[in-house]
Amino acid sequence: MLLQSLWHWAVAELMQSSSTPHLDVELLLAMHLGLTRAQLYSQAACSVVSLPTKRAIKATVKHRKMGEPMAYLLGQQEFWSLRFLVNSSVLVPRPETELLVELVLKNYTTAAKKIADLGTGSGAIALALASERPAWHLIATDCCRDALRLAERNSHRHGLQNVELRWGDWCGAFQTGECFDAIISNPPYLAYQDLHFQSELGLRFEPEIALISGENGLNHIKVIIDQARHYLRAGGWLFLEHGYKQGEFVRQFFLKCGYQRLQQHKDLAGNPRVMSGKWH
Ligand SMILES: C[S@@+](CC[C@H](N)C(=O)[O-])C[C@H]1O[C@@H](n2cnc3c(N)ncnc32)[C@H](O)[C@@H]1O
Repeated sequence: MLLQSLWHWAVAELMQSSSTPHLDVELLLAMHLGLTRAQLYSQAACSVVSLPTKRAIKATVKHRKMGEPMAYLLGQQEFWSLRFLVNSSVLVPRPETELLVELVLKNYTTAAKKIADLGTGSGAIALALASERPAWHLIATDCCRDALRLAERNSHRHGLQNVELRWGDWCGAFQTGECFDAIISNPPYLAYQDLHFQSELGLRFEPEIALISGENGLNHIKVIIDQARHYLRAGGWLFLEHGYKQGEFVRQFFLKCGYQRLQQHKDLAGNPRVMSGKWH
């Protein structure tokens, strides 16, 4: 089959289901054929695609048509200008989460610090910080061993020596008496019912353990706010991403647990998305 015909077929298939059908098809074709996007254009009119490759491309396009995120189909996603391997055991890192990285970098100098990222998934937050601050020691935790394996591969790919990966249930990954300059987390914060009302089709393909947090989406957030204070140095900070409607609850819970100098940080759309508080 001619590459050009396959290309037209694929774009037509994705026209209804994707907001970026042309880009999706270019990226998927380039991946399957081992070509750059520029090479695709120069070869489209004359290249013939073998039967096995045509079958593989058609299967991938069908997956995309069902709403599977491009990041899972391509096996990678960019975050903080770093390329991360992703698979179905981890959340696809979101651009909104770069706000957490930005805030933590702004809060501290380059001097040595010990910082934990709870629920690291692909390692996005911890590895972005580690790449910017070689003197910091990052402890990245997760309760999912497959996620930790992937975070480890990402850490090796980026040649980072200052990241330690640990398995554990939130602060259960820490040792008794261990203390951090900052604890950061983008925990699961959707309510179970939310999953079914989200317009983002791709969520159905992401691991529930990375998304859902009990009846109202707040279970994990509460546990982290409560536990983290026992592992922060005096003057250490907790930075927590939350849902855009959870800001007031999160603020009250930070206060109840004794954090001070609370700050609510908004995303580019103006929604409150991160709460930070200082442990005295
Ligand atoms: C929303 S994802 C965030 C992933 C990554 N930090 C990011 O921002 O892309 C939440 C992560 O928390 C992990 N997680 C869920 N429950 C946990 C628990 N009880 N203890 C530790 N990690 C947990 C999930 O496996 C998942 O990787």
